[in-house]
Amino acid sequence: MAVIGVYSAKGGVGKTTMAVDIAWRSAVLSRHRTLIWDLDPQGGAGFLLGCEARQSPRAASVFQRDGRPRDLIEDTRYDRLSLLQSDDSMRFASIAFARIGHKRRLAQLTDSLLNDYDRIVLDCPPTINEVSEQILNAADVLIVPLPASPLAMRTLDSVRQELARHHVRQPPILPVLSMYSPTREHHRSVKTGIAAGWPVVPMASQIEMAAVNRAPVGSFAKGSRPDKALQRVWDGIEQRLGSMRPGGNVGQSAAA
Ligand SMILES: Nc1ncnc2c1ncn2[C@@H]1O[C@H](COP(=O)(O)OP(=O)(O)OP(=O)(O)O)[C@@H](O)[C@H]1O
Ligand SMILES: [Mg+2]
Repeated sequence: MAVIGVYSAKGGVGKTTMAVDIAWRSAVLSRHRTLIWDLDPQGGAGFLLGCEARQSPRAASVFQRDGRPRDLIEDTRYDRLSLLQSDDSMRFASIAFARIGHKRRLAQLTDSLLNDYDRIVLDCPPTINEVSEQILNAADVLIVPLPASPLAMRTLDSVRQELARHHVRQPPILPVLSMYSPTREHHRSVKTGIAAGWPVVPMASQIEMAAVNRAPVGSFAKGSRPDKALQRVWDGIEQRLGSMRPGGNVGQSAAA
């Protein structure tokens, strides 16, 4: 099992769209038992997967001592893809984690799902607080979508610094150049400069339509340029996980 965090402290960079897409590729195309765990009170992942919002806000209750994430996990319309939805209770998750005082509570919970899932994808809120600390402690690999803006690029350094400062475990960071527009000169210079070698996800109407169709890009735009770009992101993640521990259990090795 491996935990994939899609994280950036910057908002609106395409995290949720990418998290839903890679979770779908993991489940449907790579045939992994996959859980997408939405940690953002905005609840975008469930929306993009066409799921009904939960009526009673209790997503944050799983972090309590006797919390049971399995009770809140639901099936989606896609084979092998399950969802742990977020809701309003996650607005207070940072306070809840601070109160619990256990820096690896989320990691403990993902470890407890070790036998149920091959991949857990975390859709992360755009924050630097106790929630992001938990995410950095739980993830085996971090996907950081970065648009070609200097302000967005700064977040890559801040993730690196945060990991170096506070975290014994150093999950590899896979940056992705997101919302790329080849007609813009600055985007082109970032692509051949700081982002050389990174996977590139274009600014594309098919990707924008994921929120309108409430479905992952690959499910309705198969073979399109954005679909192929997102597939390369997923292939890169799988390759990285494979090189970390071929055929093994990344979650267990990280927790050991
Ligand atoms: N590659 C893309 N091309 C075009 N539109 C995109 C692309 N990626 C995301 N979007 C659109 O940009 C908006 C923000 O995307 P998304 O919600 O995935 O970002 P986010 O980083 O999760 O935001 P937040 O920080 O608020 O959680 C959405 O309207 C989404 O449809
Ligand atoms: Mg989001």
